[in-house]
Amino acid sequence: MSNILIIVIAYLLGSIPSGVWVGKLFFKIDIREHGSGNMGTTNTFRVLGVKAGTIVMILDIAKGTIAALLPVWLGLELHPMITGIFAVLGHVYPIFAGFKGGKAVATTAGIALGAQPLFVVILIGLWAGILYLSSMVSLASIITLVVAAAASLFIGDWIFAVIVWVAMVIIVVRHRSNIERIRKGEENRVPFGRNGSK
Ligand code: G3P
Repeated sequence: MSNILIIVIAYLLGSIPSGVWVGKLFFKIDIREHGSGNMGTTNTFRVLGVKAGTIVMILDIAKGTIAALLPVWLGLELHPMITGIFAVLGHVYPIFAGFKGGKAVATTAGIALGAQPLFVVILIGLWAGILYLSSMVSLASIITLVVAAAASLFIGDWIFAVIVWVAMVIIVVRHRSNIERIRKGEENRVPFGRNGSK
C-alpha cells in the first residue's frame, strides 16, 4: 500500500467527528451548539455526561493511535507521527463535519501514545496534576503540550519532536478563545479538583 493512501486513510480516520456523531445519534444534540461549542471530549463530558464523554475520549484517542500504528502494522517505512499528524489534521478539519473540528488534544495524545507510550503516560500524570490544581482542562492541556514539546527534544527522535511541536502550535492556536477566558478569569471549570466549579 502506498504512503499517500495511508496518509489519506489517517486523515479520514481523524475526520471521524466522534463527539458530533455520539451527540446526534444518542442524544439528538449537536454538541457544537452547546457548552463551549467544541466537539471534543471535554465539551461532551460537560454537555452529555460521563458515559458519552468517556466514549468520545476513547474514540478520539483511538483514532490517533490507530493512525500512528497503521504504518507499523503494514510494515511501511513511514514514521507513525507522520500518519498521526494527518489524523490530527482530520480531527481539526474533518471532512465529515464541514471541516469544523476540535482542539486536537485527545487525538494528539493518541498519536503520541502509538509512537512513544511511556512519554504519554508521564505527561498524563502532569496533565492530571495541573487539572487537579486548576480545574481547567484547557489550561492543563496547553501547559502539558508546551512541556511535551520541550521534552520531545530529548527523546532522540527528531521526527517525533518536529510533529509534537507542530501539534503544540495547532493546539495552542485552537485554544485561542480558552486562553482569552483564562486571562479574564472566566474559563469553564470542571466540578472537581482544588478550584472546581460547584
Ligand atoms: O481538549 C479541549 C479542552 O482543552 C478544552 O475544551 O470545551 O473547555 O473548550 P473546552
